[in-house]
Amino acid sequence: MIRRLPNLRKKVIGLAVLTWASCLFSLSCVAADAGYPLDHIEPDIHDQASLQRGAKTYMNYCMGCHSLEYQRYKRTAEDLGIPENLMLKHLVFDPDTRIGDLMTNTMSAESSRNWFGASPPDLTLHSNLKGGPDWLYTYLRTFYRDDSRPFGMNNLVYENVGMPHVLLDLQGMQIKTCKQVPQVAPNGGDMRDPLTNEFIREEVCGEELVRRGYSPLEKVEGTGSLTTAEYDQVIYDLANFMFYIGEPARIDRTRIGWYVLLFLAFFYVFTWLLGREYHKEFHRES
Ligand code: HEC
Repeated sequence: MIRRLPNLRKKVIGLAVLTWASCLFSLSCVAADAGYPLDHIEPDIHDQASLQRGAKTYMNYCMGCHSLEYQRYKRTAEDLGIPENLMLKHLVFDPDTRIGDLMTNTMSAESSRNWFGASPPDLTLHSNLKGGPDWLYTYLRTFYRDDSRPFGMNNLVYENVGMPHVLLDLQGMQIKTCKQVPQVAPNGGDMRDPLTNEFIREEVCGEELVRRGYSPLEKVEGTGSLTTAEYDQVIYDLANFMFYIGEPARIDRTRIGWYVLLFLAFFYVFTWLLGREYHKEFHRES
């Protein structure tokens, strides 16, 4: 038994190295998935008004296809500060639903696969996957017109996605265009005319636009009931809500964390005093 111990130790170390390597590998896989550069947002789970607006958008536009089946209505209502009766009245559309139920829907996986080519996944944990809230925020703002697709729409982040653009009425139609952008000077800055000091522009399209940090999409004038800024806010709130629902305990965790740190700071004083007493005894005896 004792002789086999070093062997066991080798195995444990080997396993640890393997786990570490596979983590690294999976991280690089996640990064490789996001081809289109994601726009960054800072979710704020303590902004209850934002979470409430996000929940409203989700229940109205997404819940029909995407369940949130690891979460209950009651918990959501409590965390978001929504009275239970108002939650049931305004945000739940099935009259048989009770407040303690899981947030499921009635769409069958089989028929949705027939309709969309893929069944809409449950989204409770989605913000913990892929690029997190940044991915959601960018994905929901980069649908564009593509007549070669069954629903006439495509997406920059999730190419050839089977989901229709359900927020089209709010956002309006976007199309892929070429844009007049400043030429790049040899030093990497924008090129200007030395006489007029104006930018010297050139027409750039597609991938090259993205590489230079511009969006290849343009909104068709007069479409969509919201301005771009208003739509971005709607999507921020929605991504914020989905970030919350990915780990509801985060709200308590970050609050309790402060108490724990405070307690530790307080406790440290007494530990230090006690340590000093022990130290005195130690010196006296030796
Ligand atoms: C009409 C049904 C339908 C509605 C409504 C809908 N989706 Fe989807 N969604 C789909 C389908 C189908 C897919 C799978 C697409 C695929 O894999 O090609 C999908 C995929 C997604 C994905 C990507 C999942 C993945 O695999 O990473 C996200 C995120 C998503 N939807 C979010 C939303 C949000 C947010 C809303 C509400 C604004 C919404 N969806 C509304 C049908 C729908």
